[in-house]
Amino acid sequence: MEKKDGRSWALVTGASGGMGADFARLLGDRGYNLVITARRADELGKLRDSILARHGELEVKVVSGDLSERSFRERLLSDCAVLDIEVLVNNAGFGAYGTFDATDEAKERSMLALDIDSLVHLTRALSVRMRERGRGFILETASIAAFQPCPLFATYAAAKAFVLSYGVAARTELAGTGVGVTVLCPGVTETAFFDVADQQQLSRFQRATMMKSEVVVRGALRALFAGKAVYVPGSANRVNAFLTRIVSRPFAARLAGKAMK
Ligand SMILES: NC(=O)c1ccc[n+]([C@@H]2O[C@H](COP(=O)([O-])OP(=O)(O)OC[C@H]3O[C@@H](n4cnc5c(N)ncnc54)[C@H](OP(=O)(O)O)[C@@H]3O)[C@@H](O)[C@H]2O)c1
Repeated sequence: MEKKDGRSWALVTGASGGMGADFARLLGDRGYNLVITARRADELGKLRDSILARHGELEVKVVSGDLSERSFRERLLSDCAVLDIEVLVNNAGFGAYGTFDATDEAKERSMLALDIDSLVHLTRALSVRMRERGRGFILETASIAAFQPCPLFATYAAAKAFVLSYGVAARTELAGTGVGVTVLCPGVTETAFFDVADQQQLSRFQRATMMKSEVVVRGALRALFAGKAVYVPGSANRVNAFLTRIVSRPFAARLAGKAMK
């Protein structure tokens, strides 16, 4: 992959739908060349065409594959090696709804491989290159579920708590290097997330607090380029996140469990 001009590149994972597709579109609007990745090559191809229809001056590379597999991530990183990747959006992820000992075990393992292993692998590899250049922006997608234990999304919420902790720690280590890390903690957002998680029906709380993907993504990009540490979109979600700090963890877990039913 050769650079066509002086433009920098953004790598967006999980770009075949939901928030990832919005991240790619909006980063295109900001003038970034794009590497978009996910498993569904057809959806990525359609997204590339629609971005190029708006911005013929950009380059958009599609690299499709399963990010839960290390071998694919290595191929992706080697495809990106010659590009000046200035922005990494670690967005690909999914959840598994259900009681902690009854969710499909294989699905949970691949969730951990994606939500944690892939995010850590890409962050490590690309932050080294960004540091060498003295410039970079890394967005780690956690969740509002990162702030408290979350019954019925137990493993997913624990994985997102990892992302929140890891992202803020990496950001602190990177202070002064020109490379920033922002952790995005969305609440309920209108995407395919709940279908993929196998949650048949949303709770009243979930329906009441649902936000549009594009609104979440616009705010997240503003937070990323402003150098914020943690971004929680939406005032209801911000109140929620604040409350988890002033009540006990068991109480917060009981409330979260009720909100999921
Ligand atoms: N929606 C919400 O309410 C919500 C709330 C908090 C946090 N989040 C987080 O936000 C992020 C984006 O999710 P979303 O809401 O936009 O859900 P989504 O619409 O289901 O999108 C998920 C994206 O991840 C990709 N993906 C899934 N498994 C993959 C794999 N093994 N390898 C490569 N790509 C894979 C999917 O593409 P393919 O299927 O084509 O691979 C898709 O592009 C996730 O990290 C999620 O945990 C979502």
